[in-house]
Amino acid sequence: MVLGFVIIGGFGIGGPVILGTPAEYEITLENPLYVASPVPLGAALDVNALKNDIEYQNLTLTHFNAVTPENVMKMGSLRPSFDTFYWNSSDYLVDFAEENDMVIHGHTLVWHEQVPSWLATYNGTTDQWRSLLKTHIQTIVGRYKGRIASWDVVNEAVIAGKYRETIWWEKIGPEYIKEAFIWAHEADPDAVLYYNDYNLFGNPTKLDFTLQMMADLIEDGVPVHGIGCQAHISVRYPSANQIRAAIQKIDAMNLKLRVSELDIPMNPIKLYWEYSARLATLQSKRYEEVTELILQANNLTGITLWGITDPSSWLHSEKKLQWPLLFDGDYNPKPAAMAFATALAS
Ligand code: XIL
Repeated sequence: MVLGFVIIGGFGIGGPVILGTPAEYEITLENPLYVASPVPLGAALDVNALKNDIEYQNLTLTHFNAVTPENVMKMGSLRPSFDTFYWNSSDYLVDFAEENDMVIHGHTLVWHEQVPSWLATYNGTTDQWRSLLKTHIQTIVGRYKGRIASWDVVNEAVIAGKYRETIWWEKIGPEYIKEAFIWAHEADPDAVLYYNDYNLFGNPTKLDFTLQMMADLIEDGVPVHGIGCQAHISVRYPSANQIRAAIQKIDAMNLKLRVSELDIPMNPIKLYWEYSARLATLQSKRYEEVTELILQANNLTGITLWGITDPSSWLHSEKKLQWPLLFDGDYNPKPAAMAFATALAS
């Protein structure tokens, strides 16, 4: 609900002008969310909702200037069989974004989840597995060459302190990570390539291992340009100090940072049945705090919310009420959206 907010933001040349204190940013059609942001502001999009729900589509167009496919570019969606690619949904998303001048971030080329079922029974030699993955990466990146600005090349390949033993790790060996970046770069030398993972803000052991991995790759001349921190976070964890320390480590390596999947679920142990004013305030403060911290990064290249409205979030359902996002089920900006925009603009 937009109730209770005073309109004190306006537009000057070069962006919104925020006056006085508290400098709340009023989100309206004329004063959309992305205008407050110094970096491209994205949302993970559900292609079915985009096609069938005009209000979802309008909200996307009004408030975001970048998109990430939530699911349709994952291997399980794109590869119904070994030698077939299904492009309808991903093409739709790319066309939609281009027509509306939105930056596209591709997600994700190599992951162990949401893989097609035939993969588990694929019986190849190491070289055949390498060739399968190379073809997969280069077919997708090549199809959208020059149209998709950046990619999550490898997703979630690390657990605290070591490599995750994924299907790719088992079949190809640890060098699949290095090769994935090289193959993606060959297919589109202009694309910016990211390693993406969760809990990098909260788990120093995992972050240190990941940064060491990236330092080794860079030293070997592998084209990896940045780190994607998913940022599925909660109200108190990770702490502001933990987030600050993580960003400082990322900055010390001079890496680009994308906050790639931001959402803040509000009900981890299922205490609440409704989104009360108290939860709204807590969530607003947390979005504000996290945004202020993120904006301290030296090379922040984008912020992407992992969805648009609460009911369509992957974390929220009738049985699992979490209200993690910035817009409610009636497509109205929540107070957290105002707080987020205010922090972005300040
Ligand atoms: C999630 C999607 O949001 C869900 O719709 C799907 O069922 C499962 O995957 N980390 C990632 C994302 O990198 O791809 C995941 O997306 C959320 C966690």
